[in-house]
This record gives sequence, C-alpha cells and structure tokens, in this order.
Amino acid sequence: MIVAIDGPSGAGKSTVAKAAAKRLGFSCLDTGAMYRAIAWKALADGVSFDDVEALGAIARDNEIEFGHVEGDPVPRRVFISGTEVTDAIRTSEIDRAVGPVAAVPAVREALVAQQQRIGRAGDYVVEGRDIGTVVFPEAPVKVFLTASAEERATRRVKQNEERHVGSTNYEEVLADIKKRDEIDSSRAASPLKPAEDAVHLDSTGKTIEEIISFICLRAEQ
Ligand code: C5P
Repeated sequence: MIVAIDGPSGAGKSTVAKAAAKRLGFSCLDTGAMYRAIAWKALADGVSFDDVEALGAIARDNEIEFGHVEGDPVPRRVFISGTEVTDAIRTSEIDRAVGPVAAVPAVREALVAQQQRIGRAGDYVVEGRDIGTVVFPEAPVKVFLTASAEERATRRVKQNEERHVGSTNYEEVLADIKKRDEIDSSRAASPLKPAEDAVHLDSTGKTIEEIISFICLRAEQ
C-alpha cells in the first residue's frame, strides 16, 4: 500500500509523511533526499551540471539507502554508495544544485526505478513531486500538499535553525524557494503538478496534526 504525498518545497511534506508513516505503521521514503544525494555526489566528483550523460551515470551507478538512528522507526539517515550524507545534503549549496540535477531525464529515470523497487517491498508513505503522477500512479491515497511561499520560507528557516544547517536568512530562503518552484514546475521532465485524483490540502494556517489525521483516515478507509 502506498500513500503518495506531493507538493512544492517546504509545504510540510517531510514532517507530515514521517508522522503519518509512524502512526500507520508504514515505512516512509523521502525521494527529495535521493535527488539531493545525486546532486551531492555530482559536486563531490566535480561533475558539471551541463554533463547530462555523467549525471545520469551517477544516478544509475550509485545506490541510495536509508538507515535508522537507534530507537527511531523513521529512516532519517541517507547513504549514497555507502557514504553517509544525511547532513551534507541539507546545505544551501545542495538546495541550489538539486533543481538542475532533478531536471535531467536520465537522473529521474534511474531514481524512479530505485523508488519503485523500494516502495513495492512494503507499505510506504512516499513524499516527493511526482509520486502520484509518475512513480506510483496506482497509489490509492494521493495528497497534494501546498502552502504559501512565505509560510514555507518561515518554516524552512526555523527547520534550518534547529538542524544548524542551511541558510537562516528569510529573504534568501524565500528567493531560493521561489526559484526552486519555478524550476520544478517549468521543467520538461515530470514537472511538479498534482495528480488528477489527488486531494489538495493547503497547510497555511492549518496545524500539522489536522493534516496528519486527514491522511491517516484516508489510508485506513
Ligand atoms: O523535497 P526536497 O525539497 O528535499 O527535494 C529537493 C529537490 O528534489 C526538489 O526541489 C526537486 O527539484 C527534486 N525532487 C524531484 N522529484 C521528487 C522529489 C524531489 O524532482 N520526487
């Protein structure tokens, strides 16, 4: 069983997906972390973002795996070919690099295949941009989660402060979010758009609890 949660950066998908998975007793899969890991690897290997062949090869040749911190059922640790990149993929540098990397069709093809392999192995809440449209179009529960760009920037700054990674400058974060929205929704390969059968939820002014309860109720029906 797959619960698909899509939406723009910072709409609260991660928090909601992790909490809903915990409550439902499902695993959860953060597909954004996978695109981030490929961007990290490309930067680490000095691969140019114009070199689509090399970017595709990175996505095909490197397995991305998730791991647990002891006592926490949510798989928060991220590894690419055995190297842990949990914190390294949350920097502003990766925030900026990931959009162009995720726009490369060969990268998407390789990661979608990895995501389908992972998700088909069990019950998953999967969060991303194209889960309900491309990765798991057959998912029985699909949510498209949004919030205003300003609200998303405020939340991202708070999250970065807590994690001690990424920018904590509101204007800079807001500009990055708007730029990423633009790249994600205008790219030719799997642009960000809701699946026709997705339920739209705007999290502006709603509590996280309201959203989690709604999703769990749908999944249990
Ligand atoms: O969710 P997160 O903000 O970590 O995702 C990082 C980036 O990865 C997004 O801005 C988007 O460009 C890309 N992405 C994607 N498809 C997904 C998940 C993420 O293109 N399913």
